[in-house]
Amino acid sequence: MSLVEAARAVRENAHAPYSGFKVGAAIRAASGRVYVGCNVENASYPEGTCAEAGAIAAMVAAGETEIVEVAVIADAERPVTPCGGCRQRLAEFSRPDTTVRMATLSGTVETASMAELLPRAFARSHLGR
Ligand code: THU
Repeated sequence: MSLVEAARAVRENAHAPYSGFKVGAAIRAASGRVYVGCNVENASYPEGTCAEAGAIAAMVAAGETEIVEVAVIADAERPVTPCGGCRQRLAEFSRPDTTVRMATLSGTVETASMAELLPRAFARSHLGR
């Protein structure tokens, strides 16, 4: 199964009764294993979480910290780009040349590197670590 297909499958489980906008994300980590996540909204709106955050949490919980490739999918006219907060979350575990595939249900896929999505990212190096 491709990374986009994994994101498409997990999107079905999204809990998005408020926005009606289901999102799926899949991450390939350094081991080759794939971790998936979907958005999980809440009646207290700000407590909702993005699909990417779920996939990152699954990866870290499994003991991995290196993202090789990312896929995000939604039912939209044009491919959905990760929100600003998720760009920062992804950057924590990515490299500037890590590929992010952004897909629509109808089959359009656009790709961008993390450096394109989040240039001049704030990183641990700024903290001197
Ligand atoms: N959302 C994601 O899960 N990932 C993105 O990259 C963009 C937005 C979710 C958050 C919210 O549940 C819904 O999409 C509408 O913003």
